[in-house]
Amino acid sequence: MFNPDSPYSEPGFGAWKQVLEALPLSEVLIREAEPTAQDGRWMRWMQADCESTNIHSVEDNVSKIGQQLVLLAEIVDYPVGFCCVLAGRTDSDPLFIQLVAVVPSARRRGVGLALLSSAADWQPERNIAMATLDDNVDARRLNERFAQSIGKNIRRVPVRRFRPSDLGLARGERHHPWLIDRRQQDAD
Ligand SMILES: CC(C)(COP(=O)(O)OP(=O)(O)OC[C@H]1O[C@@H](n2cnc3c(N)ncnc32)[C@H](O)[C@@H]1OP(=O)(O)O)[C@@H](O)C(=O)NCCC(=O)NCCS
Repeated sequence: MFNPDSPYSEPGFGAWKQVLEALPLSEVLIREAEPTAQDGRWMRWMQADCESTNIHSVEDNVSKIGQQLVLLAEIVDYPVGFCCVLAGRTDSDPLFIQLVAVVPSARRRGVGLALLSSAADWQPERNIAMATLDDNVDARRLNERFAQSIGKNIRRVPVRRFRPSDLGLARGERHHPWLIDRRQQDAD
């Protein structure tokens, strides 16, 4: 039965999921999301397909795209991942990677790394901060791999170092912040 509040029964969701089941080994392309209903809906469907992300309305996603950088990863024009990035208030504040998410059927082929690389290129002079749950091994490995790929170290920083909202965290979320210091000497 059609449930107007469920992304799973929205027209097109099933067809998109079918494409995801047979993704070709094509290159991933990263682009900036646009504040359109289409990109807001793609985000919503990816949120629905990723286990650890909250599902938002199309309107809320469009509003977010209008306010900050949202990157979409696409394989043959189908979105498979996204990344929400916020630039800190002052020049010395980092770039906050608030969320990186890749649909399960497109994981472990470099999409997460490609999203982080594009996010980092957006404002290369800033350091990079992100937060993970201790048991999110995939996210922690991805962040380590990313730091390694740009020749920098990633280190855990005190919980109060950054505002939870800058890190994209809601009240009560128990994530730990990390910092990649791009202004320091290269990693060994
Ligand atoms: C965390 C997450 C974004 C990683 O995305 P991903 O696209 O799988 O990441 P990548 O493919 O770039 O890298 C992951 C692994 O795949 C490997 N990989 C990359 N390209 C590969 C390829 N072509 N073939 C095989 N493996 C590959 C990487 O080396 C890495 O391996 P490792 O675990 O041994 O380090 C994804 O698991 C996810 O969306 N999780 C749910 C949401 C979430 O928890 N987000 C983080 C909280 S903000």
